[in-house]
Amino acid sequence: MNHTSVLYREALDWLAVRPGGVYVDATLGGAGHTQGILERGGRVIAFDQDPEAIARAEELGLANLTLVEANFRELVPELQRRGLRQVDGILADLGVSSFHFDDARRGFSYQQEGPLDMRMGTGALTAAEVVNSYPEEEIAEILYRYGEEPRSRRIARFIVENRPIVTTTQLAEVIRRATGYREAGHPARKTFQALRIYVNDELGALEALLRGAEEVLKPGGRLVIISFHSLEDRLVKHFLRDSSVLKPLTKKPITPSESEQRANPRARSAKLRVAERIDGGIA
Ligand SMILES: C[S@@+](CC[C@H](N)C(=O)[O-])C[C@H]1O[C@@H](n2cnc3c(N)ncnc32)[C@H](O)[C@@H]1O
Repeated sequence: MNHTSVLYREALDWLAVRPGGVYVDATLGGAGHTQGILERGGRVIAFDQDPEAIARAEELGLANLTLVEANFRELVPELQRRGLRQVDGILADLGVSSFHFDDARRGFSYQQEGPLDMRMGTGALTAAEVVNSYPEEEIAEILYRYGEEPRSRRIARFIVENRPIVTTTQLAEVIRRATGYREAGHPARKTFQALRIYVNDELGALEALLRGAEEVLKPGGRLVIISFHSLEDRLVKHFLRDSSVLKPLTKKPITPSESEQRANPRARSAKLRVAERIDGGIA
């Protein structure tokens, strides 16, 4: 049992792991959910775009586990490369892991000084490039669209006026000045979320994963998605509503218990949705 995996038991129960079945963990991270599937007798193909997550899992030396260092948007071709056309279930626990937040060098945290990086994988675009070279209107648009930040224009103006901005804490301070110290939570939260989503094209990757799931899930196979902000949850909800081959099994998303939320602050915003591949039609 892994104590930090969000909605651990719920995710595994909804995935309905069958001994000998083949499951994709699209977001390996600290391998908590992956180990849960293995313990229930499943085989796991685990994706992570972060080489550090793959290296940590390699050290565990787990049987029945295939590690794939790739973005989950490549689900279908990566499975095909391994001779797999169909799988029994897919789990995705989206976003960054605590390893990312805790490592200041990765630049995800506005509370620890680090470079403005925010890449989960090895892509070329960093938060520094967006912050220091994008036009003001484009920065405002990113903050509004991916952070739902109502003061996006003012923050973008302050960013441009204070360039170059090199570290996470410098950026947090610029945002604090732009927003006038009024906020209850940290005023940089939405801007950091927006930059992270944009740098990693998180919504584009999620949509590609959902399309891939339609293609590779066996009839009766389950798709379990845990999301952490309204943009992701909305995308999943609407995709499942409109899909002709995935039937939503959860009308309302499942959320963590009070005790889980108390024990793990990251769990507070988690929402789990499940769909099942309906019968027939896979060519
Ligand atoms: C929240 S953590 C997963 C935690 C994991 N379920 C556990 O129990 O330890 C999310 C992981 O997914 C990875 N990730 C996020 N988006 C990805 C994507 N588009 N493709 C591949 N990996 C991704 C991140 O690098 C991170 O390691």
